[in-house]
Amino acid sequence: MPSSNAQPIPAARPVIGEEEIEAAVRVLRSGRVVQGPEVAAFEEGFSELVDGRHCVAVNSGTSALHLLLMALGIGPGDEVIVPSFSFAASANAVRLVGADVVFADIDPDTYCLAPAAVEAAITPRTAAIMPVHLYGHPAAMDRIMAVADKHKLAVVEDACQAHAAALNGTPVGAFGSGGTFSFYPTKNMHSLEGGMISTADAEVARTLRLLRNQGMEQRYANEIVGANMRMTDVSAAVGRVQLAKLPGWTEQRIANAAYLSQHITAQGVVTPVVAEGARHIYHQYTIRVSGDRDAAMAKLTEAGIGNAVYYPTPIHRLKPYWEPDQKAGRNWDLPETERAAAEVVSLPVHPSLTEGDLERIVTAVNALGENL
Ligand SMILES: Cc1ncc(COP(=O)(O)O)c(C=O)c1O
Repeated sequence: MPSSNAQPIPAARPVIGEEEIEAAVRVLRSGRVVQGPEVAAFEEGFSELVDGRHCVAVNSGTSALHLLLMALGIGPGDEVIVPSFSFAASANAVRLVGADVVFADIDPDTYCLAPAAVEAAITPRTAAIMPVHLYGHPAAMDRIMAVADKHKLAVVEDACQAHAAALNGTPVGAFGSGGTFSFYPTKNMHSLEGGMISTADAEVARTLRLLRNQGMEQRYANEIVGANMRMTDVSAAVGRVQLAKLPGWTEQRIANAAYLSQHITAQGVVTPVVAEGARHIYHQYTIRVSGDRDAAMAKLTEAGIGNAVYYPTPIHRLKPYWEPDQKAGRNWDLPETERAAAEVVSLPVHPSLTEGDLERIVTAVNALGENL
């Protein structure tokens, strides 16, 4: 066990280094602070991560989902198939455009939408499927795209946790009608707050640019009703610094995860499964524990190992979803979602972990095995 005076290892460690600070100051001194040259350069740079698709920067991942759904014309009367095992933002975006959320169950290995469950959830009102690349593992996009093509549905990839994840060599955000990314500080790269939308469709990209800016391309010549979801140049400048570091950080996360998976041998603990052809970029390193999870987490915390549950309550059980469903007598059958919500624990995997940190994490998790 680690000595009692060892520093706790945080679950996440957002980086705001000297380069990020210098970039922000440079923009502030320039006086050009909103949607200027830094945003354009950030969009161009990010495009390389998504096979050259058009990229449109906005002020958060939630805005990215919201605007992409709007740009695809999804609204009242439409249904969107969403996993309940995700952050609420995935479903919230659907509700924000006035469409209905239909929950489908997940694959127990990858925690992402199960293609068969998606197909079973399709109705005449289904307009789109929203796979979430949870924890940085790509959803089964080959099979989901086949289902979408067969039924002529849009696909909105929620890649908010999955920058540079890929399946069979294709990056997430380059499969569907569009993809969305978050640059919240705890993500694999950040821009303080921010989001990005990728799409292969130039018309959709143009609509997104209008929607984020009150429907204007030229000032006061409003073409459609839009919002203000612009990214600041300060955010974009920070994002560009982080984008340059992302490849190295991602390799480090993958190496950290490989170390943990190789050395965690505790009975009653299941380490992450990587699907064939998948590039998991380990936004989270998430284990399943059998037995008393609260007790296990308390032991990890006692040993100074940061840990957290993403997400303890599936979206369908959150009040804004649960109450209307109860009223309507609607019950979702989501056994794998319920089981995952009860069993998962995420451990530190961020690139600033030292070898000593990794050894401490392994020791603490393996010590759990005796009690699980
Ligand atoms: C899966 C998922 N979707 C959407 C979002 C929303 O992103 P943001 O917090 O940037 O609005 C997040 C971020 O936490 C997320 O994890």
